[in-house]
Parts: sequence; C-alpha cells; structure tokens
Amino acid sequence: MTLKRPGFATRAIHAGQEADPATGAVTVPIYATSTYVQEEIGKHKGYEYARVSNPTRDRLETNLSALEGGTASRVFGSGMAAINAVATILKAGDHVVAGHNLYGGTPRLFNQVLANFGLSFTYVDTSDVANVERVLQKNTRLVFLETPTNPLMELCDLRAISELTHQRGAEVVVDNTFMSPYFQRPIEFGADMVVHSTTKFLNGHSDGLGGVVVCTKPEQAERLAFLQKCAGAILSPFECWLILRGVKTLAVRMLQHDSNGRKVADYLSKHKKVRKVFYPGLPDHPQHELAKRQMSGFGSMIAFETGSLANANKMLRMVRVCSLAESLGGVETLISHPATMTHAVLGEEGRRKIGITDGLVRISVGIEDVDDILADLEQALGAIS
Ligand SMILES: Cc1ncc(COP(=O)(O)O)c(C=O)c1O
Repeated sequence: MTLKRPGFATRAIHAGQEADPATGAVTVPIYATSTYVQEEIGKHKGYEYARVSNPTRDRLETNLSALEGGTASRVFGSGMAAINAVATILKAGDHVVAGHNLYGGTPRLFNQVLANFGLSFTYVDTSDVANVERVLQKNTRLVFLETPTNPLMELCDLRAISELTHQRGAEVVVDNTFMSPYFQRPIEFGADMVVHSTTKFLNGHSDGLGGVVVCTKPEQAERLAFLQKCAGAILSPFECWLILRGVKTLAVRMLQHDSNGRKVADYLSKHKKVRKVFYPGLPDHPQHELAKRQMSGFGSMIAFETGSLANANKMLRMVRVCSLAESLGGVETLISHPATMTHAVLGEEGRRKIGITDGLVRISVGIEDVDDILADLEQALGAIS
C-alpha cells in the first residue's frame, strides 16, 4: 500500500489484499496446496510446507495486524486455538491473572487443560484495577482480559491495567472479539497481544471458524509461528479467504451493528418485562464514560434480564427474525441463553459468583432492518406473563 496513513476501511480492503501478482486477480487466491515444489535443495520461493506457511494465510495475517495496529499476526483454527497458542508461550510455574467473566470456553481451557501443565490462574473482577494489582505475583506472566466481557458487558480500563502490568514485568493480552478493531484497538492503550475469535465480527457471516493473535513484538510472532509449525492448529486457506472477504465490509457492518445495537438497547431498557439491560452505550451503564474513552462505538452485544429461566425460555421459543443460537457477530441477529449455552461450563455456583442468572439473555444484534428486529423482540417478550 502506497498511502501514508490509510484509514480503517481502506486498510480492511487493501492491506494484504493487493491484486495477485501472477494474474492480476483482484481477490486473494485460495492457495489450496499442502506443499511447494523446490528448484534444488534449499532453493524455493519462501514456501516449503503448508503447515508452516501458506500465501493466503500470509495475506490474512498481514491484513489483521494492520487493522489492530500490531506488527504481525498469526491465525489459528479457532478462537480457542489462538488463546491456547498464547498460553503455550508460557512455562510450567508461570501464573496468569484473568478476568472472572470471560467467554466460558476460556476458563475451561485454563482450568481443565492448561492447569495440568503447571500453569496457575487467578480470576478477578478486572473492571477494578485494584483487584488486578492485588493478585499480581512475582511469577505472573500474563494478564488476560475481555472488555466488554461476555456476557455481562463489564469493561476494564486497558490503559491503567497495561501500565500496572508492565510495571510488574508481565504482559497484557486482550480478547477483542466483541468490539472488533473497528471500535476498539487495545494495542493503542498498551496491550501486548490481542486475540480474536475471527468466527465472529471479523468474518461476519457465520460461515467459518478461526482465531488470530496480533503481536507487538517480533519474538511473540516468531514464537507463535514456531507453534503453528510444531502444533499445527493453523487456519485452512479457504477459511482464511472467507475472513479476507468478510473483513472488507467490516467498517460498514460495524456501523450498522452499532446503530441497530443502540436502538435495541434503548428499546429493551424501556420495556416493562425487561428488568435490566447490560450495554455500555446506555448512559446508566456504570462504565459508560470509560466506554466513550476507549471505544469509538458501543457495538451490538447486549445482555438483558428476563427474571427467570421460564421467562427466558418463553421468549426464546417465540423469536422468528432473531435466531436462537450460540455465537455472535454475524450479519444475522443471534440470541442466546448464557446459563445453558456459552457459560454452562461454569456450573451454577460459578455463574452465581459473577452474576450470570438463569433469566439472562444475550443478543448479538445483526444488520437486518432494525424495525423487524424490534417487532420480533416485541412479540417474543409478549410471551412473558
Ligand atoms: C469472546 C470470545 N472469545 C473466544 C471465543 C472462542 O472462539 P471460537 O469459537 O472461534 O473458538 C468466543 C466464542 O464464542 C468468544 O465469544
């Protein structure tokens, strides 16, 4: 790219997405190959075997690091594979501080897999920096954050936590899946690595799994490339291509997600059957000011309280435009029940501790006509007596 400071939408469409030098094709080709012919021993075009590298994957990695403002990125077979890769940089005896309200699969990986390899984890409410300070130890290597959190939409102060963590010689990793780099770029606030489930807003069309780690230091990118080569949880060229295609419309999609999200949150906050709405764009969200400082939009992830499992079930049975499904970030509105879906793994006690009730419903507002989404919610909420 020749422009000095291309804007976000330009980077999304052009960074790593230059025309194919061999044919001029405007879209990046899918290099469906497992290996590459070599001219003679040790003489090749930079590619030897597809677990190690693939041109379609290279293009996606260039694109995503340009969007997050990192120096390099590495893509993996899913968001969980990306988070696992970050943790695999650590060694037995290392300690991780993590937010207490993360996507349920993350503490499952930490507690039920990685703890068996000598890593230890402390979970705290990271919406208060003092809690992080209290649990940092000499052997803490990483502070792992989600902001806003899934599904309670609590924020953490990225700048304050990054400064504190760096003073103690550890690094900050942020799962930025909910906001996408369009609305929040944690590296600008001091984060050392950013992870995404690209399955969500980056792909945007609910048609492929993927994950990325965006790095800020060469040694991180080298280590993660080595892990791709050793452990092989890489993303296939087809899935890379789906994200390269999806990301071209990220800016316009996010604007529409945000516009619809604000309207749905406002509607829910005034509905008499809804007891509480969790959305950082609402002025009564306890961290609304922080949201305005560290995000350039509020996005389309909303949680709301229906009062009971029975109420949640009554409304979720009725939705027609919204689809009752796990996942988020697609063009279609997806609605889910954290207690039995994404956060079932925490168990009743684990959910109670952090405030995920049986009546909580999460909605990932899509980019359909917002009046249709509102009409659907209106008739579904009508089922609650
Ligand atoms: C915030 C967040 N991080 C990570 C993941 C895991 O991503 P994947 O399903 O692509 O493995 C999810 C999945 O829902 C998520 O919501």
